[in-house]
Order: sequence, then C-alpha cells, then structure tokens
Amino acid sequence: MDPRLRGDDRLRCRGDEMAIMKQSIEKLRATLNEHNYRYYVLDDPIISDAKYDQLFKQLKEYEALHPECLTNDSPTQRVGAKVSGSLAPIQHAIPMLSLDNGFSVEEIYAFDQRIHDRLKNNDLIEYMCEPKMDGLAVSIRYEKGRLVKAATRGDGQTGEDITQNIRTIASVPLVLRGKNYPDVLEVRGEVYLSKKKFEELNERASQSGEKIFANPRNAAAGSVRQLDPRITAARSLEIVCYGIGDVIGDIPHKQSDILAALQTWGHRVNPESAVVKGIVGCVAYYEKLAKKRERLPYEIDGVVYKVNVIDLQNQLGMISRAPRWAIAHKFPAEEVMTTVKSVTFQVGRTGALTPVAHVKPVLVQGVTVSNATLHNMDEIHRKDIQVGDRVVLRRAGDVIPEIVRALVQYRPDHAKKIQLPSHCPVCHAVVEQIEGEAVARCLAGLACPAQRKESIKHFASRRAMDVEGLGDKTIDQLVETGLVDSIADLYTLTETQLSSLERMAEKSANNILDALEKSKKTTLARFLYALGIREVGEATAKQLAMHVGDLPGIFSATEESLQEIDEVGPVVAKHIVRFFKDKNNRHVMDALLKSGIHWEKVSIEKKDLPLKGKTFVLTGTLDSLSRTDAKEKLESLGAKVAGSVSTKTSYLVAGADAGSKLQKAKELGVAVLDETQFLTLL
Ligand code: IVH
Repeated sequence: MDPRLRGDDRLRCRGDEMAIMKQSIEKLRATLNEHNYRYYVLDDPIISDAKYDQLFKQLKEYEALHPECLTNDSPTQRVGAKVSGSLAPIQHAIPMLSLDNGFSVEEIYAFDQRIHDRLKNNDLIEYMCEPKMDGLAVSIRYEKGRLVKAATRGDGQTGEDITQNIRTIASVPLVLRGKNYPDVLEVRGEVYLSKKKFEELNERASQSGEKIFANPRNAAAGSVRQLDPRITAARSLEIVCYGIGDVIGDIPHKQSDILAALQTWGHRVNPESAVVKGIVGCVAYYEKLAKKRERLPYEIDGVVYKVNVIDLQNQLGMISRAPRWAIAHKFPAEEVMTTVKSVTFQVGRTGALTPVAHVKPVLVQGVTVSNATLHNMDEIHRKDIQVGDRVVLRRAGDVIPEIVRALVQYRPDHAKKIQLPSHCPVCHAVVEQIEGEAVARCLAGLACPAQRKESIKHFASRRAMDVEGLGDKTIDQLVETGLVDSIADLYTLTETQLSSLERMAEKSANNILDALEKSKKTTLARFLYALGIREVGEATAKQLAMHVGDLPGIFSATEESLQEIDEVGPVVAKHIVRFFKDKNNRHVMDALLKSGIHWEKVSIEKKDLPLKGKTFVLTGTLDSLSRTDAKEKLESLGAKVAGSVSTKTSYLVAGADAGSKLQKAKELGVAVLDETQFLTLL
C-alpha cells in the first residue's frame, strides 16, 4: 500500500487489496482443481509436477496470510482432523446392492435369457461392460455440488462414516465441476490401491515391522477405515466411480451417459468400460479384458455387465439385494504349481482336524502363499496327495488357498504318504474318525487348548459378541498364560491381568476392557451364535432366537420342537439339545449372564409383529420364492394370507401371469405389489 495515503483512502485501498487477494486465491484454487482433474481424471496433465507443487505452495502461503479466506473445500484442506472413538454409522438413503456372479459362459447366457424373458423382448440388449474392481465400495454424497458425506458399503443398508478419509483421495473432487449437476448426488465407486502402491506399502511395512496386508483389497479397506486421515492420505488410494445412489435432479437415461456425466462433474471413471450390443459382445469384452488383466495397474476379479438403458433396469428391478439387470462375470481362480514340503494338522473350534499343506512359497493373485488347506483325509486320498509331491494350488479372491491336485507323474522317490495322527497334535487326546464322516476330531472338547482358543476367538468375533480389539494373538496369550479357560472368564479379566501380557500397553488393556463391557449388550441371536454350538451358524441362530424368544425356551426345547424351525434338521436339533443339556455349558452360560450379558427380549407374540392385521392374497408365479414360502414368510410377520380378493384384502401380491385376481383387485381398488415391491416389504 502506498505509505503516502491517509485515512479513508488508506482503508478503501486495504479493502481493494483484500478483494484482489480473495480473487487471486479463488483463481489459484480453480487452477489447481483443473490441473488436478486433468492429471487424475483425464490422465492428461499439461503442467509438470514441479509447477503444480509451486502453485500449491503459493496457495498455502496466500491462505496463511489471509486465514479469513480459508474454506473447507480448498485443495489445501484435504487432510482433516482425527476422528475420535470409532467411525460413526451412516444409513444409506438408497441401499448399496451387491452383484450376482457367474463363472461360465452358460451362466452369462442364462442371465441374458432371463432379461429377454422378463422384458418380453427379442432385440439385442445394449450392455455397459465395466472391469470389476477388486477394492472397497463407497458412496460419496454431494449437496449443491459440495462433498458432504462419504460412507463405506457396510451391510448395504448401513455403512461407516469415512468422509475425512475420502477427502484425502486426490481424484475425488471436494466440489463438483461445472454447473449442471443435480442438487443432491450420491456417487458410488470402488476405492482401491494400485498393484505398485500395494507392493510399496507392504515393503515399507515389512521394513518397519508393521502389519503386512494379504492383498490390495485388504490394504485399501484397512486404509479407508483409519481414524486418522493422515494415515489414509499417505496410502495413495485411488477411486473409480461406476454408478449413483440418491439423486435429486436430472440424470441421463443410460448407464454409459451417467458415467460420462460423472466424468464431466470431476469424477474418475474407468476408461476400460465399453458399451456393447448383445451378450456375445459382453463375452468378447470379457475375453479381451482377461488378456489385458496382467498389464492393468490394478487388480480386477472379473467384469460387470449392466443393462445400459435405465428404464429397462427399472423394469427389471432387483431380487434379494442384487439387481436383475447386472451380473459379475468372474475370472477363474488362478492356479499355480508348487511342492508340498510337509503336512500338519490344525485343530478347530469343534475339535475337527484339518490337514494343512506347507508348500514352497508361491505368488498367486498377488499374494505369497505358503500354506494351503487339504480339507480332510478323504480329500487327500481322493486327490492322492503325498508329502514331496508337485501340486497345483488355487486361490480365488478371499478364499483360503487349497491344493487342487497332485502331479503324480512327477512324484519323487522320497514322497511320503500323509497319515492321520492317532492323537491330537495339541493336547494329545485321542482322535476319532466317525464312520461315514469325512472329519476326524480331537475328543477332548474344551479341555484341549486349541479348541478353547478357537471357541474364544469365535465368541469374540465381529459377527458374534463383537469384542473390538481382542485379537487372535491376545486370545492365544490369555489361554497360554491360564488367565482365561472359558469364554466366561473373559468378563472377569482385570486391567492388571491384561497389562501383564507381553506387548500389551495399558491403553490397549483398557480398550479391551471397554470393548468387553460394551459387548455385554447384545442380541439373543448373536449370543446363541457366539456360543459356538456345532452346526449353528448365524442364520440358524437368528431363526432359533425368533422361535424360542428367550433362553428358557431353548432349555426346554426338544429335538422334535426344534425341527419346526426352517433351518433346523435332525442333526442340528441333536447338537442344540446336547449343548444345552451339558452341565459345563450351563455353568458357563450362568456365569456369562451373571457378568451382565443381556439382550432385549425377542417378541414371538403375534401382536407385536409388523404385518399384524394385514391380509394378503397371492397370485401368479413369483421368481424368487414359492407360494408356500411366501405364505410362511408373511405369516411369520403376523399377516393373514387369504385365498380370494375382497374389500378386506390389504394387498394383492401379483407374480408373473397373474389373472382374474389381479383384475378383481384393480376393480376393488386393492393395493397391488409386484415381486420387487413385495420383497422390499418383506
Ligand atoms: S455395480 C448395482 N460396478 O462389486 C450393483 N460394482 O459384488 C452395484 N464392484 O459392492 C455394484 N467394480 O464393490 C459395480 N464396475 C463395477 C464394480 C463393482 C467392482 C464391486 C462393488 C460391489 C461389488 C458387488
């Protein structure tokens, strides 16, 4: 400012200077955003990295001089503050669906046929073909063009708030480009780590003794769910967008045009995507991409075909959480060759002995594998596998690596047959192979430390009691030091005991105690699942809880009464009854309840059921379930199912080829649900 100026002139001049500075800052931001877009989205930079860094530094300096000009969506503000506690749950406005899978061309042709049948259309269908990225699905919400929230997929209905972490991904615009974007726009896409960045990350981790990730997908998921966005920012995550969720405003009528629009609004989409005519075009695309797969800088596990016209997608609807208009055509699991060095037997939660082959380490689908399951003795005999054999090993996605077959023609002279041990390798109790069962078991039950460890791990796991932070290693230590003998002992642990474990900081000990306390509030279904009753998985536990309502109901249940439950056959019923008769198990349960584990009572009375008072009539054929199943489902929710339509009918469910009942419902003004609406209601 000119020092010769005085009074009002001086103020006016400062105001002008401020306005100019504000303008310069905004211009710099726009320039940086545009270069960022060219670099990350269009892959077509027009300035050097050094020049970009220089502009960025300049913006930072200006903002430091004029903090009043700082805004949350400035490119300098991507890395925000640490989240305290845990990631908050976010309910998706529109559920995030999953995809049906097909491996064979026959399955893919059948998918196309179903679409033709449903649409009653013989013309070739236009499909959008996209690579199936192997990362983590996220949803990013923009309101009036500004990024306001981002969430993981979670269970499809509720995800976790990862806004701070998504903001650190350089190709995600904090503000949408242009003007003609919808007022509300949820962008959906896949966050991933490139093959190169994954290797670098693991290299660094192994040097500093940190956790090594099994594959890029796990690394991406771990990075996106960090509480500290600085860690996420350092991981070089990338994203490609493949769809939209909630929208208020206009949106194009084809998937391909939506992707093109997303790109003009500043989002990265996959340049490998292509529109094809007919299912033959899809399969040709698949073959082309399969050949290119190795050369792609990121992992894909197949391709996705989507009916391109949105109107047709809407006509097709969805079925049990996956759209009818899309399918993932998965690549076959990669097979590699290696040698079996030795075989040991692992003892599981129920005492089952699983033979594990220790093989010469091999790289398969980006992961170094040195152990692979041989399942059981029957499989070993069927595949004729011996120690020393050359074998084919396979790994598909997250599935545990397995030995597919032995190359017996290369069997060396020193090859040795694999023998089932007569005694448990952990507790030395007798091993029994029951006639007609493939599985051999250690009969020591919870007296066997291996079974104790596994049952406690199962009890604490996410889908059971969800004791956060109580990891496998800690459980191993707790059992080995004798601090914990049964699941009930977990709740008597003290801070001093936990802190006495090797490598356990006071803070971690306290976190575990907090998590244990939190886990006490649960549901009957989770509790039943956590107990680890043989053959009782999550679905059975849920059904069981619904059926019996509370623990006394289970204690008094008989094998016959339990078999009334959908998921329960004679074998499962026997396991359940035996479990609850066992004195030791009853003691453990008493102790758990005494320590404060509780749940809200499950109501099995019809008066509280959601469809109480409603009358349904079913007509036509439903694709996804039989008439009897539909009736049972409705009745289990408290509804009445009648045979004919009258003024008392609340809803008519009309499947394909519905006839006179549909006509009558229309005449009487009765609400009609098609299959999709019906499934949504259920
Ligand atoms: S569409 C409407 N497109 O696959 C269906 N998903 O198995 C919603 N994925 O959760 C997904 N690449 O994480 C779609 N081009 C792509 C995809 C893709 C990867 C993942 C996504 C989804 C999972 C479903």
